[in-house]
Amino acid sequence: MFSRMKSDIQAVFDNDPAARSVFEVIFTYSGLHAIWAHRLAHWFFNRRWFTIARIISQVSRFMTGIEIHPGARIGRRLFIDHGMGVVIGETCEIGDDVVLYQGVTLGGTGKEKGKRHPTIGNNVVIASGAKVLGSFRVGDNAKIGANAVVLEEVPENSTVVGLKARIVKRNGVSLNKLDHDKLPDPLIEVFRHMEKQIQELRTEVERLQGELKRFNGGVQPYESKSI
Ligand SMILES: CC(C)(COP(=O)(O)OP(=O)(O)OC[C@H]1O[C@@H](n2cnc3c(N)ncnc32)[C@H](O)[C@@H]1OP(=O)(O)O)[C@@H](O)C(=O)NCCC(=O)NCCS
Repeated sequence: MFSRMKSDIQAVFDNDPAARSVFEVIFTYSGLHAIWAHRLAHWFFNRRWFTIARIISQVSRFMTGIEIHPGARIGRRLFIDHGMGVVIGETCEIGDDVVLYQGVTLGGTGKEKGKRHPTIGNNVVIASGAKVLGSFRVGDNAKIGANAVVLEEVPENSTVVGLKARIVKRNGVSLNKLDHDKLPDPLIEVFRHMEKQIQELRTEVERLQGELKRFNGGVQPYESKSI
């Protein structure tokens, strides 16, 4: 048990350049507190003491802002940075050396029964705010960009970003450079529509001015302002 706690503390130093001392890490890293509380809750869960397990998990959630279901299976050296808003579902499995940032959800879609939550491989980074929803696998060494919504399997050594997330990098090679001009952007669409309407109005005003001038025998009826 102590060797595992030691490796948990080491994982903080490996992943957070801001960590200064073992004392500070033990007393101020809520990610660490949540993982240790989860080990206790998981121990009770495995012995079918489900209510005690849930109580420990909920007290830990209250203290740390991190909700880990007691049934979740977590590997070695998980590092949860900042922590607040992290949710890890009951049938979630997490490999070794995984990093989760604040606001990550490893959840279900609400449409599956049984195994409903993702399986995260080894050495995976899941950036802040990312949602990984469903019972698929995220391969070893994968990176999930901040705020990505991942709804399907992620191959190993890949980076996925966006909503819904797609692969942008695999085995260190960038795929499909993001064509920002081809991404649907509702705001740009509204501006394009407005621009088209202004152009149509301008043409119509010019036509009416021409007609009025002809009607007045070539005399400009009023001072034309540029539009
Ligand atoms: C995803 C991440 C791990 C980088 O992985 P990487 O494999 O090194 O990927 P890259 O930085 O080479 O980015 C690949 C492409 O995805 C884009 N990208 C990266 N993160 C993105 C995101 N969250 N949303 C949209 N696009 C993103 C990059 O701009 C790049 O696009 P390009 O190929 O058109 O230039 C990193 O961006 C990240 O999110 N880190 C964690 C940050 C975090 O949560 N910090 C919290 C601190 S409190």
